[in-house]
Amino acid sequence: MEIIVLGVSSSISLYKACEIIRGFQEKKFQVQVIMTKNATRLISPLLFSSLSGKKVLVDPFEEEYSEKIAHVTLAKEASLLLVAPATANIIGKFASGVADDFLSTFYMAAECPKLIAPAMNEVMYLHKQTQQNIQKLQAAGVKFVEPERGYLACEDEGWGRLAAPEKIIKESLSLLVKSKSLKGKTVLVTAGPTREFLDPVRFLTNRSSGKMGYELAEEALRRGAEVILISGPTHIFPPPGAKFRKIQTAQEMEKEVGKNFARADIVLMAAAVSDFRFARISSQKTKKDKLGEKIEIIPTSDILEKLSRKKGKKFLVGFAAETEKVVKNALMKMQKKNLDLVVANNVSGEEIGFESDFNQVSLITPEGETIHTEKKSKLEISRIILDKIEEILG
Ligand code: CTP
Repeated sequence: MEIIVLGVSSSISLYKACEIIRGFQEKKFQVQVIMTKNATRLISPLLFSSLSGKKVLVDPFEEEYSEKIAHVTLAKEASLLLVAPATANIIGKFASGVADDFLSTFYMAAECPKLIAPAMNEVMYLHKQTQQNIQKLQAAGVKFVEPERGYLACEDEGWGRLAAPEKIIKESLSLLVKSKSLKGKTVLVTAGPTREFLDPVRFLTNRSSGKMGYELAEEALRRGAEVILISGPTHIFPPPGAKFRKIQTAQEMEKEVGKNFARADIVLMAAAVSDFRFARISSQKTKKDKLGEKIEIIPTSDILEKLSRKKGKKFLVGFAAETEKVVKNALMKMQKKNLDLVVANNVSGEEIGFESDFNQVSLITPEGETIHTEKKSKLEISRIILDKIEEILG
């Protein structure tokens, strides 16, 4: 049975941790609770040990554990560390590398995925320091379940209420590694838009946020693949563990993809590469009266089409962003670019596709099999895509 470690810190909402423990147990996980000392002042550890069937850990210097170096042993066994509720204090400790109790020591020793569900007063949550700490942890690959708006223990209304236990459980389960099914494979992912410059100030781009590509890269990492992520400008932190290459123009993307293509077994071309670039690029900002009435643009090269000519045994996946005739257009792209799978989506709606955390896609194989997904988070969509690829690869 896999072990989920649940860190509980001193927020009034810690009673909700009981529901979270139950939720994990229903899904057949063992739960090991670690409490901070202050949390034990709010509620007895006995409550959580009774529920989890395991003695709650608080102090690494307790005689019983010190011999086994329990935080290290447990760190090797744990499949996930969830901290719910997480106070501003424990988030601050994680962010600055303070390891002075069981939970903060365990945080540093554990290499498993980590998820934090903050709960605190709104002013504390929105405090610059807390937000900086959260960003720092996100940059290190830690995931967060955002708190909700509602009544807080301090009788204020605002942001800072612990997210609903069902939501926390769902996010936790989505982070668990099912298997190292892509171990030994190299996955090349492109993501985000490109920028085609007219001069140092002006450029041509598109609405891609890069979210779909980054989720794919992260999911491939979780499945044990070596991941190369080549990305246009985005606001997302690259997943730790990926070999990350930042580019701006379609030409730079082509060059970087070219350098890494030979190593790849699977290529996921999720980037929205600009189809055109300016014919003349100026190194100085051009005065508008010098530009004339029309500016010449010329096609960029189609990276995926070029790759398909030296495809060999590589598995090539194209992404087709369409606003109409989604499947028909995607099928044409599949044939033209000799693809093994096309992920097509309709980007005309505001709720899915570009800039959204959600997507609804159709997966199309060369055999004509078409799978339509429902609207799902991009994480879930990335799983469906990789599951399909693994199924085809056998
Ligand atoms: N692509 C590429 N190089 C380009 C344009 C697109 O490699 N210059 C890739 C994209 O990364 C995507 C696939 O080709 O995986 C389809 O991209 P899309 O923009 O939907 O289609 P296009 O082939 O550019 O056709 P159109 O814009 O006419 O729909």
